[in-house]
Amino acid sequence: MNNKKSTNVVWQETKIKREHREKMLKQKGVVLWFTGLSGSGKSTVASLLEKSLYEMGYLTYLLDGDNLRHGLNSDLGFRSEDRTENIRRVSEVAKLFADGGIITITTFISPFKEDRSNARKLLGEDFVEVYIDCPLEVCEKRDPKGIYRKARDGEIKNFTGIDSPYEAPENPDITVKTYENTEKQCVQDIIEYLREHEIL
Ligand code: ADX
Repeated sequence: MNNKKSTNVVWQETKIKREHREKMLKQKGVVLWFTGLSGSGKSTVASLLEKSLYEMGYLTYLLDGDNLRHGLNSDLGFRSEDRTENIRRVSEVAKLFADGGIITITTFISPFKEDRSNARKLLGEDFVEVYIDCPLEVCEKRDPKGIYRKARDGEIKNFTGIDSPYEAPENPDITVKTYENTEKQCVQDIIEYLREHEIL
């Protein structure tokens, strides 16, 4: 959305800044941006990752695609413009969470490279792209929500992977293959990356 209507607004500086919050929490804020097809395992891996980080003493927050579409993004559908706006809003929310010092995990299909690239621009070094890699055939076979069947039957239009594109990341920071590895292994790979890059 570039039709900016908020004019005559002045950025307010605060006394308590990100560095204070991070010091208090003893952690660094970051956004782990999961992208992948519906049914690829984004929410499952994210949920297990959150549990592991919680047990290690880290504060996390999961911004989930389906969940945000119940509230903040309930006015958005699945046309490309709507998806772009969905991702724009989520990037802005994730930016606030990272500024809060929180390890933020987002699980949105986020099918368009340009939208993810804009999220990376907004979030800078805080943006870690995690590609939840799983072939369409496998996602469709899993079909945990029975949604691929509906898309094939023509009940749902513009469905990612069926009649709407998914542009896989070319250079993700992390790739986990949920069709080859266990959920536990995927989580361990992500944690290892975070340690190697001194995010944990
Ligand atoms: S995104 O493309 O805008 O990033 P998002 O992750 O928020 O999508 O929402 C995807 C979820 O919405 C899917 O897991 C699925 O449950 C549901 N959904 C409903 N209609 C569609 C559709 N046309 N394409 C993809 N997902 C859909």
